[in-house]
Amino acid sequence: MSDSLNASELNASETAPPGERPHHAPGRHTRAKGEPRFPDGPRADPAGSHFERRIRSFQPRRSRVTAGQADALQRLWPKWGLDIDGQRVIGLGGLFGNGNPVVLEIGFGMGEATALMAAEEPAVNILAVDVHTPGQGNLLNLADQNGLSNVRVGNGDAIILLREMLTPDSLDGLRVYFPDPWPKKRHHKRRLIQAEFLDLAATRLRPGAIVHCATDWEPYAEQMLEVLDAHPEFENTQADGGFAPRPAHRPLTRFEGQGLDKGHVVNDLLFRRVQHRVPQSEQHRQESPR
Ligand SMILES: C[S@@+](CC[C@H](N)C(=O)[O-])C[C@H]1O[C@@H](n2cnc3c(N)ncnc32)[C@H](O)[C@@H]1O
Repeated sequence: MSDSLNASELNASETAPPGERPHHAPGRHTRAKGEPRFPDGPRADPAGSHFERRIRSFQPRRSRVTAGQADALQRLWPKWGLDIDGQRVIGLGGLFGNGNPVVLEIGFGMGEATALMAAEEPAVNILAVDVHTPGQGNLLNLADQNGLSNVRVGNGDAIILLREMLTPDSLDGLRVYFPDPWPKKRHHKRRLIQAEFLDLAATRLRPGAIVHCATDWEPYAEQMLEVLDAHPEFENTQADGGFAPRPAHRPLTRFEGQGLDKGHVVNDLLFRRVQHRVPQSEQHRQESPR
């Protein structure tokens, strides 16, 4: 964590949890049926994915948005927001306005940890994705109030972003902190970190890119270790092949705090995207140039 900026010092406009009371401004406009919630803000279900019969790692929820979050969504979405509509391929240099490395964070929640990490490493761009509208507003506010120009906020399913909108080798890192644990056996198929997800993520990560996962749900931690270990495109950064010590650069997250309060054990995993393997035909050419 930064010496100059910590969680309590970070300007936090609204860090109230999703369950808080909505703001009822006097004379508030009542929306007509079908009228967008935030005309200049994130679109509801931008990829129209509610119609896809795909298993999702998140539960779509209609959440209350505070006045401050709503204001940020309206004001800052055109500048820093990205609707994950699956309709176009995005150049990350253009999105951030520079050629700095880009790390994708999937599931930032309310975004406090994201903002702290962005402040700590201004030369690293963070593409932070979630479907949670209050969190999107909160992170935009944190970025604005703390002058963080290296954060972009994506609205939608990260799978669609990875599959349809990012180019091969475009990411320098992937962060998945406290993904929904889906503890019931019949819901395990919804867990984000599984072989199929890693197949997709591997195509978008540059060789050497670090995948950093953390969870307070031990059976999920074991599953993460197993699938990452078994995947040919990733290697464990830990010599003993196990979990990593918590890196100093990962701030405490909201869900982590809740897990720790319940006595849960937190595990971090740090894996590296391996070098592209040279196809056998290429290998032969390299070995015998004539
Ligand atoms: C349990 S919360 C953790 C939030 C935060 N990382 C923390 O530790 O406080 C998991 C978040 O991941 C988001 N999420 C899950 N699957 C996602 C996906 N495929 N695309 C985008 N966001 C996703 C959920 O909406 C939720 O906000």
